[in-house]
Amino acid sequence: MKKQIIILDTTLRDGEQSLTCSLSTQTKIDIALALEDMGVDIIEVGFPVSSPKDFKTSQKISQIIKNSTICGLARCKEKDIDLVYEALKKSKNFRIHIFLATSPIHIITKLKTNLNNIIECITFMIKYARRYTNNIEFSCEDSTRTPINDLCLVIEAAIKAGATTINIPDTVGYTFPEEYNNIILSLKNKIYNIDKCIISVHTHNDLGMAVGNTISAINAGARQIEGTINGIGERAGNCALEEIIMALYTRRHSLNFYTNINYNKIAYTTKLVSKLCNIPLSIHKPIIGENAFAHSSGIHQDGIIKNRETYEIFNPNIIGLNYKKLNLTAKSGRAALKYHMELMGYKDNTYDINVLYNNFIKLAEKKGQIFNYELASLAFNNKIDNEITFYSLVNFNIKFHDNKITIVTIKLKCGDILHIATDQNQEYLYAIHKVIERITNYKFKIVKYKLVSKSSSTKSKNKVFIQINYKGNIFHGFSISNNIMKTSILAIIDSLNHIWKFEKINNNI
Ligand code: KIV
Ligand code: ZN
Repeated sequence: MKKQIIILDTTLRDGEQSLTCSLSTQTKIDIALALEDMGVDIIEVGFPVSSPKDFKTSQKISQIIKNSTICGLARCKEKDIDLVYEALKKSKNFRIHIFLATSPIHIITKLKTNLNNIIECITFMIKYARRYTNNIEFSCEDSTRTPINDLCLVIEAAIKAGATTINIPDTVGYTFPEEYNNIILSLKNKIYNIDKCIISVHTHNDLGMAVGNTISAINAGARQIEGTINGIGERAGNCALEEIIMALYTRRHSLNFYTNINYNKIAYTTKLVSKLCNIPLSIHKPIIGENAFAHSSGIHQDGIIKNRETYEIFNPNIIGLNYKKLNLTAKSGRAALKYHMELMGYKDNTYDINVLYNNFIKLAEKKGQIFNYELASLAFNNKIDNEITFYSLVNFNIKFHDNKITIVTIKLKCGDILHIATDQNQEYLYAIHKVIERITNYKFKIVKYKLVSKSSSTKSKNKVFIQINYKGNIFHGFSISNNIMKTSILAIIDSLNHIWKFEKINNNI
């Protein structure tokens, strides 16, 4: 029978701890709601004693979340434990998470005490916390640098005092998978009352082992895992929950475990956390990076088209992503071109694949990546000249009123005709968007806007990369200039010229 792995998310505690500025209460509520929706069993919402704001936020979240257990962190101090209780007492289910360091380096140099005092303190504080709840987690901070016999003494006492979950954190990301596995096995063999608790693991990624260590601890008998969304956390971060969850899912036949996670909420949650914490995801980030399901070489693209499983170990639809992404570059073959043409609705008897391929290679070698709409113009033998720009900027004016309203006026040349329009909004990009929509009659959505600003003492250069969605198709725009507003307008116009060409081709064939 499959065994459950309990998921404890600590994005809002260990993750937030590492950010340069703390998250607002509303942001933390939004993340907590997404975690609940994703099916996380336990959400560690904060460290209430650390600040009045943390206390209040923990309190608010604990009253909103209904389906996940809410957990708060406390040092081995009465005041910390009281505050966790005060913050969480109105929640449906709550847990008090107490921690104290157990390794010699922490005990001697940081806490300036000895192991006997540590065990006494842990015993007292766990018993103290039991007045509030039976759901007590105890963490031996820096477990992996604690001699195994010391660790056993601490854990045996913690369980005797009433801890129901014992966490073995690799606090400094020091251990290796085999060692971590051995630690868990030793605890199971040496501690007589170990089956009275759930063993939890909490890994950090200093040596890039966080997910691997967690898997190896599960194999040794850990049944709760701790981590953060996108792996955010102290130093190199924590175990990335989306990675460990998908590892358990992908290898479920050999690992035989299950989680309560709603996989289709994973992509949404990781993007939300990335956006709200202002930490962009690397394109190579496993599971969710932009390249995680992108295929570039001709051989891989051909394989993917014939059978996704040739180069994808799980279907990205499962985590809520619905694309099959083949990068069209000079490395792509005819199969990928045909596939993309078909996605756009062009049957292969309406164009000559050899002509398309030859035109494509010439352009791709010059330009790098080619997008679908460009492919269409290449297929139909450049019926529309690639250099034609239907829309061009004549001039523009942007006025700011009391820092509140931006009034934007833009004059565009559309073919041979000049058009001018004005609109206003609090945000300049929104106002620019509205004006251009009014002039061109294209109803589009800006789905990505990336501004890269570089200034030197003499000049500043701004680049804008934009993606817009028009009738379900994505079009790209790019521009570069010295003025941010102008660069934004030009990038939108660039993408609209692509739409114009694309529509022209479709009307011609
Ligand atoms: O890394 C760590 O040791 C911790 C504990 C507080 C669980 O975050
Ligand atoms: Zn940690």
